[in-house]
Amino acid sequence: MRIGCPTEIKSHEYRVGLTPNAVREAVTHGHQVMVQAGAGLGSGFTDADYTAAGAEMVDSAEEIFARSEMVVKVKEPQAVERAQLRAGQVLFTYLHLAPDPDQTRDLLDSGVTAIAYETVTDGQGGLPLLAPMSEVAGRLAPQMGAWALQKANGGRGTLMGGVPGVGPAEVVVIGGGVVGTHAARVAAGMGADVTVLDRSLPRLRYLDDVFGGRFKTRYSSGGALAELLETADLVVGAVLIPGAEAPKLVRRADLATMKPGAVLVDVAIDQGGCFETSRPTTHDDPIYTVDGIVHYCVANMPGAVARTATIALGNATLPHVLALADKGWRQACEDDPNLLAGLNTHAGHLTYYAVGRAQGIDVLSPHLALKE
Ligand SMILES: NC(=O)c1ccc[n+]([C@@H]2O[C@H](COP(=O)([O-])OP(=O)(O)OC[C@H]3O[C@@H](n4cnc5c(N)ncnc54)[C@H](O)[C@@H]3O)[C@@H](O)[C@H]2O)c1
Repeated sequence: MRIGCPTEIKSHEYRVGLTPNAVREAVTHGHQVMVQAGAGLGSGFTDADYTAAGAEMVDSAEEIFARSEMVVKVKEPQAVERAQLRAGQVLFTYLHLAPDPDQTRDLLDSGVTAIAYETVTDGQGGLPLLAPMSEVAGRLAPQMGAWALQKANGGRGTLMGGVPGVGPAEVVVIGGGVVGTHAARVAAGMGADVTVLDRSLPRLRYLDDVFGGRFKTRYSSGGALAELLETADLVVGAVLIPGAEAPKLVRRADLATMKPGAVLVDVAIDQGGCFETSRPTTHDDPIYTVDGIVHYCVANMPGAVARTATIALGNATLPHVLALADKGWRQACEDDPNLLAGLNTHAGHLTYYAVGRAQGIDVLSPHLALKE
């Protein structure tokens, strides 16, 4: 199969769809891989790295889109990219179609077979191509929180781990899923005193079994949170209610009960945020202060560590890239229902029910799409 990997063009996107290692594997499987010159630079991969792995370097994105049977990317295709997609071509990338009618319409008009990373499933009900980015954002959250706690950034001037004779920072993590668990582990590793809140008792049991002793768990109630907010130095928002906007768990009035200079890191900002005073920020200008409380609300946190994020994403996507290339998308999806769950559009049909519901568009069952 001819596989193409263009440079990402969304603002401040430094990740790349294929690493040199992924290229090497695909070439070993007998495929031809084209990579746009410079595509890997933001993640620290040079053109020479790709050439050594067996890629053909191509100057323009237009040539990649024109010649590829499968395009592998990171972010949803931008309008100029969507205009180059066509029927019979496979697009494998993050799409997030539900809130994006323009993109949905363009993909349907193009006839492209689009498989979305974020809807590929695993056997345990997880989203394995979303999880690596949650792991990255979770581990980054205490690092950014520690930075924001520094005096020059408006923070309280508290060191996460304290020092001998001075207690550590108190960290509260709301939501003990993928983001929350990784955030708690890193915060505890920095020496902070960490409490994780969740609404799921099975999840709290799991966390206690595995991490008991390293951090504490509390059932997430308004009362427990109010108590913890009073002494918290850093609060990480990591809740998710699938398919819904994040619940506002900290209200503006609650800020007055917190210590001045305490920090809120709202990782759930991409779902609207779980603090009432959160608004999305960027890596260029990541923090702002409301009522003396510092807020960090960057919506694409993994972008700050593009190299780690690219490699982590690549580890998760590679088996699917190889299956799609080795077998063709139909056979690969027929053999693997989890990959079939990723199918969002094919030959002008929408094939993902949640997007159909969100936008009022008829959906063709993905199983029927396999026969089209
Ligand atoms: N900002 C970024 O760059 C970035 C990157 C990755 C993920 N995210 C976002 O982070 C959030 C968390 O993602 P995840 O992968 O950890 O999800 P997850 O499903 O693994 O975990 C969410 C957890 O929240 C818990 N929860 C739900 N309601 C709660 C409540 N009221 N109180 C306490 N806990 C509650 C759930 O029980 C679950 O354990 C999502 O909104 C996701 O989109 C943001």
